[in-house]
Order: sequence, then structure tokens, then C-alpha cells
Amino acid sequence: MRVLLTGAAGSIGQVLTLGLADRGHEVVGLDRVPRPDAIDVRWHVADCADPDAVHAVFEEQPLDAVVHAAGLPDEASLPDSLTSHVVTTAALLDAAVAHDVRRVVYAGSNHAVGRTPRLGAEVLGVEARPRPDTFYGVAKVAAEALLSLYVDRYDLDAVSCRIGSFGPRPESVRELATWLSPDDCVRMVDACLTAPAPGFAVVHGISANTRAWWDLQPGRDLGYEPLDDAEEFAAAVAAGPDDAAEVAVVGGPFAGEGFHRPALDRLDP
Ligand SMILES: NC(=O)c1ccc[n+]([C@@H]2O[C@H](COP(=O)([O-])OP(=O)(O)OC[C@H]3O[C@@H](n4cnc5c(N)ncnc54)[C@H](O)[C@@H]3O)[C@@H](O)[C@H]2O)c1
Repeated sequence: MRVLLTGAAGSIGQVLTLGLADRGHEVVGLDRVPRPDAIDVRWHVADCADPDAVHAVFEEQPLDAVVHAAGLPDEASLPDSLTSHVVTTAALLDAAVAHDVRRVVYAGSNHAVGRTPRLGAEVLGVEARPRPDTFYGVAKVAAEALLSLYVDRYDLDAVSCRIGSFGPRPESVRELATWLSPDDCVRMVDACLTAPAPGFAVVHGISANTRAWWDLQPGRDLGYEPLDDAEEFAAAVAAGPDDAAEVAVVGGPFAGEGFHRPALDRLDP
């Protein structure tokens, strides 16, 4: 497939650029920043929040799918979060509809349900009610709602991957449950691109972690078979003073008081 990958210069984006190409996809990169030297694909510098710039990118070449991994991966003010996650998703969806691009895969987040208490031994399903832990999480919920609306209106296929903790290895006790390895990230996105007719779907973006809190079955239903397990790194993960609080709710540290702040930045606070 020819796939427009947004955020292609980012940590997830660079892994996906190389990994999806290895799996036979033709990746077209888009980012606000220029193409990194390590990446050798067709590249567009554009802001996904600018609908004209996004439409211009879609005009440049036919596309089969969009993987939307551009966005601020952290907490910000409510308007900045909405712009980064909802407005960008809207611009891409409008362009996809206008150019008959039928498949969208989204880098969603566990923080859409981050205030959900842990369920003991039971794993969390993707049908859990939206329960964000931050304005970032609110924006991820709204971006998923927008995907759902466009699937219903225009009969697209759109999958939100609620990513846990992406990185080369788990760095904390919480991440022994929430880790997504780079290789599994590629497997997951490839499955979401190629699954037959998923409609609107949500999958949990984690590896096959022994301590996983989130149900992997929705991903497996789409063909995502994770092969890595954070447990392999458990002996190297040191206990931390905040471990108990971090595993009490889905969103870990994002649910803590350190993230409480007004929704709107004021010029004269
Ligand atoms: N890293 C994680 O563990 C994790 C977990 C859950 C969700 N996510 C989501 O995955 C996505 C990518 O995260 P990441 O860790 O790779 O972040 P990152 O900051 O490493 O990369 C994001 C990339 O997107 C680009 N970008 C940001 N806003 C843009 C815009 N408006 N238009 C064009 N490009 C823009 C940046 O320049 C950057 O290259 C984000 O949406 C994030 O919320 C990440």
C-alpha cells in the first residue's frame, strides 16, 4: 500500500517509516520538520493542523491509507491539545474523504481511559467508557470520536491504536505492563492497515506483556500478533518510589496531581 505517515520524523514515526517499508509498503512521510538523514522516503513538510497544506499533500500523489502519528505526545493546554490531536485528525479525514483514501490508522493513547482504576486481575476491554486523565487524553477521546463519525458518514475504515509506552525497553514497573516494542508497533500498524474491513475499531497498543492490564484480543482480531514481552527486561527495571501510585489507574503518572492545571493558558495569570 502507499501510506501517508504523519509525524514520520518522530520516535514512533521513524520506526514505522523503516518497518512499514520492510513489510512492502511505500511510505510517504509528512512532518513539520525536514526529513531526517536516516530516512529515505518521499517527504512533505507540512502542518497537519492546516487543512490547505494537508489537501496539497494529498494532491501530490495517490494514496491508499493514512497513518496519523503526528502530535504532541504530552500534556498541554486544552486548545493546544485539541489542535494537535483533533484538528489534525479532522484535516486528514477531510482530505481522505475528498481523495477517496479509505483507510486511516491513528496513534491513539491509553490516556483516553487513563482515569480508569485498575481491575485487579481482569484486563481492560476497548469498550471501557472514555475516562481521560489529562487534556491530552480528552483530545485523544475526541480524535477517536471523530474517526467514528467519519466511518459512519463515509464508510471509511479507521483504527485507533491506544498506545501504552512505546520505546526500546520498559523503563518502570508500570511499563512492564504498558510497553509497546518497536517491532510490535510495526506489526500492529501493518495489521491495522491490512485487516479486511475493520470499520471503526480500537486496539490496545502494547506488546504481549506477561503483566498486561489491557485486552490484546481486539488487536488479535485484526491480525495483530505481538511477539515481544516486557518481562524479559523485568530484572533490569528498578523499583521506584511512585510505583504503587503509577499502577493504581490506567494512565499512571498522568493521573497524578502534578498534571492538574487550568484548561486555558492566560496571558495575565
Ligand atoms: N510514545 C508513546 O509512548 C505514545 C503513547 C501513546 C500515544 N502516542 C502518540 O503517538 C504519536 C507520536 O508520538 P511520538 O512519541 O512519536 O512523538 P514524537 O514527539 O517523537 O513525534 C511526533 C512527530 O510529530 C510531528 N508533529 C507534531 N505535530 C505536528 C503537526 N501538527 N503537523 C505535522 N507534524 C507534527 C513532530 O514534528 C514529531 O516529528 C502522538 O500522537 C502521541 O500522542 C505516543
